[in-house]
Amino acid sequence: MSEGLIRRSVLTGVGHYLPEKITSNAEMALRVDTSDDWITERTGIKQRHFAGSHETAAFMGAAAAREALAKAGVDPLAVNAIILATSTPDQAFPATAVHVQAAIGAHNAFGFDLAAACSGFIYGLSVADGLIRAGQADNILVIGSEVYSRILNFEDRGTCVLFGDGAAAVLLQARDVAPGSKGVLSTHLHSDGRLADMLYVDGAVGQPEKSGKLVMNGREVFRHAVTLLSSAVNEALTANGLTNKDIDWLVPHQANRRIIDSVGKKLGLTEAQVVVTVDQHANTSAASIPLALYQAMSDGRILPGQLVLLEALGGGLTWGSALIRL
Ligand code: COA
Repeated sequence: MSEGLIRRSVLTGVGHYLPEKITSNAEMALRVDTSDDWITERTGIKQRHFAGSHETAAFMGAAAAREALAKAGVDPLAVNAIILATSTPDQAFPATAVHVQAAIGAHNAFGFDLAAACSGFIYGLSVADGLIRAGQADNILVIGSEVYSRILNFEDRGTCVLFGDGAAAVLLQARDVAPGSKGVLSTHLHSDGRLADMLYVDGAVGQPEKSGKLVMNGREVFRHAVTLLSSAVNEALTANGLTNKDIDWLVPHQANRRIIDSVGKKLGLTEAQVVVTVDQHANTSAASIPLALYQAMSDGRILPGQLVLLEALGGGLTWGSALIRL
């Protein structure tokens, strides 16, 4: 390594997949007692994508991964690891990540799934960054892929209008860079299992007698979200000796427009600096941050060299933040 350079994880490609079927708020109002006005005012959501039967977490994750690799110009055989964050895997095992591995032909990689609900992408980024910094891998795909439509209770208007399906992936590659000049600067992870009953899925293969549907105390989640997210973003800035003035973009988890706006405002950012996709995708859990990143990088808003702050909170509760210089 040249003098003064350090090994860091640099984001070199991003890809996405959204299911073909789009469902508007008006269509949701045909299923439950709700309205476009209520959903828009409380959440900012206008529509969501719902997966067809063939659009599983593995199918969508593979499509997103292929695009990320193509954007980076990297052969699938050069991938060392696939970390797939999901709460809606194709099977209890094998991991959805190995189905993606087979589908994209990344036969030299190892792969595993990661369960941290809506914080899954930040957790995945953190694990991948650790592997790269430690010299254990050079090229890692971090994927968020979710089909929440399979775990939604379509009789509960308080939750079913809030979520959607989709996937996105980033490729992280080891590079020797000047400190702070490029790559993942730091990641910050938290969880508090005492708050597990605020947002959870009632049942799974280990508890087959339960419904297996999402349950949420929305008001309590909302109350915790702004406080915990604000503290996580401040933690990321402090750890790097940076201030809010240094941030070019906030790419938050896309759960609710009001939560996104509150965190942006507390950080002193302008509305234009905050990437919002919740209106189009609703909450796609572990996929929401990379989907937003994909959108803002593809439309030319986020540029090389800029500093991007990521944050998320989800069931667990889990929460965290990450700072990346692109
Ligand atoms: N359409 C119409 N009315 C609805 C509704 C819907 N889809 N969902 C709930 N309501 C009703 C409730 O039944 C309640 O009626 P009531 O007063 O007659 O009992 C009323 O709206 C207010 O419900 P409340 O839950 O207090 O609304 P809220 O202002 O807290 O908004 C959320 C609800 C879910 C939008 C809000 O709490 C929220 O966004 N929480 C965070 C959720 C989140 O981000 N989760 C994911 C984290 S990863």
